[in-house]
Amino acid sequence: MSAAGTSIRTLEEAHTGAFEATESFARHLDAIDPLRAFADEFLHPKGPFNGRALYFCGHSLGLQPRGVRTILDEELEEWATRAVVGHRKARRPWYDYHLRVRDGLARVVGAQPEEVVAMNGLTTNLHLLMLSFHRPEGARRRLLMEKPAFPSDTYAVKTHLRARGFDPAEDLVEVSPREGEEFLRTEDVVAAIEREGDRLCSTMLAGVDFLTGTRLDIPAVVEAAHRVGATAGFDLAHAAGNVPLELHDWNADWAAWCHYKYMNSGPGAVAGAFVHERHARSDLPRFAGWWGNEPETRFKMQLIPEFVPVAGADGWQLSNPPILALAPLLASLELFDRAGMDRLRLKSRVLTGWLEWLLREVHGDEVQVATPADVERRGAQLSLRFPKVDARAVHTTLAAAGAIVDFREPDVIRIAPAPFYNSFLDVWRFVDMLGPAFEGAHGIEVVGGFH
Ligand SMILES: Cc1ncc(COP(=O)(O)O)c(C=O)c1O
Repeated sequence: MSAAGTSIRTLEEAHTGAFEATESFARHLDAIDPLRAFADEFLHPKGPFNGRALYFCGHSLGLQPRGVRTILDEELEEWATRAVVGHRKARRPWYDYHLRVRDGLARVVGAQPEEVVAMNGLTTNLHLLMLSFHRPEGARRRLLMEKPAFPSDTYAVKTHLRARGFDPAEDLVEVSPREGEEFLRTEDVVAAIEREGDRLCSTMLAGVDFLTGTRLDIPAVVEAAHRVGATAGFDLAHAAGNVPLELHDWNADWAAWCHYKYMNSGPGAVAGAFVHERHARSDLPRFAGWWGNEPETRFKMQLIPEFVPVAGADGWQLSNPPILALAPLLASLELFDRAGMDRLRLKSRVLTGWLEWLLREVHGDEVQVATPADVERRGAQLSLRFPKVDARAVHTTLAAAGAIVDFREPDVIRIAPAPFYNSFLDVWRFVDMLGPAFEGAHGIEVVGGFH
């Protein structure tokens, strides 16, 4: 038995039946957490808890790894001292910088190195990959996505279809949670795919839903889509670095994601893309640019004006690699390699599991969790509703007490303990400050439009 009165010795042994609602139990879990030292590899916003705020917004913007400043300084120095020569001669030559992040990225999303590339922004990559993988022919012309989807995805899909001469009212199929339910069931997505059958051309679905944090069963969706002859694509913005992914083995056709959330690579970080190796040498139509061309002929330039795509995901690149955007990703991936997705996931399951258990135990009447209770069906995020108080007022009081969480209209507070830099004590402190936050929230007059 430990000081906390628990016999749990490893995080593998931590389960709801063994949880205790005490600060000493939180400290015990921190003591047995093999990843606890990683919190100091990140820079934390200032606040009242040993100088740090309680930061629970890794689902929105991950914290800055300490290594980012060093690598950025190095690249700035290379630029200052070598200028154009740095493309070929530098500590990390810029010419093929995108290849430096490839292996690490492949390990995070479960891909072969040639299947992934870091490029552009997420929404840009959605358009580029839809262009290649949504290929309507005859009666097979519909695209299926979830509703509500992240607005950028909805805008992208609707404008994409219109720009190519299709009508979203006819050619877009949106699948919603059942009446009275919070989150979308994978079985309902699969049923919708089967219903559409040979009218379905492609799917584009979120691996983890931004609003409720629900994790989709990607292999089940891929299988269903392929069964009816459609391609399967995924937006993994909230999944990459958060939940285990095996994109290659699951046979997904394509995926795109950003790196500023759980991938901790900075605001507006360069995004990621996956194209399954089955399509590596395909003649799929695409928008091309010089960096997608075979490296051997890339610099023949005007001498060979025809585009010859390099095999693999690299062949979807348009532009030369953005060094100052890729450098933070490189620093971040080094941490992923040291921590390992398996250990991050294990800690994440316990961390979020304990948060959920504590919320029900301590604030059961005041908090509703809009995220699946099944740990397999979620990542780090819990989305909370407050039946007795205004969520915006709770957000305000939490911020004043030093907790950074986010509010989504009309009534959801999203909170994601990140296994890289959040501790079990952070979770305990958050739940502990909710009581006073509810009290404070009663006294706050909510003004419309506040965020
Ligand atoms: C699910 C999802 N899709 C798309 C986007 C938009 O990404 P970007 O601004 O990088 O294109 C986001 C941003 O948070 C997102 O969460």
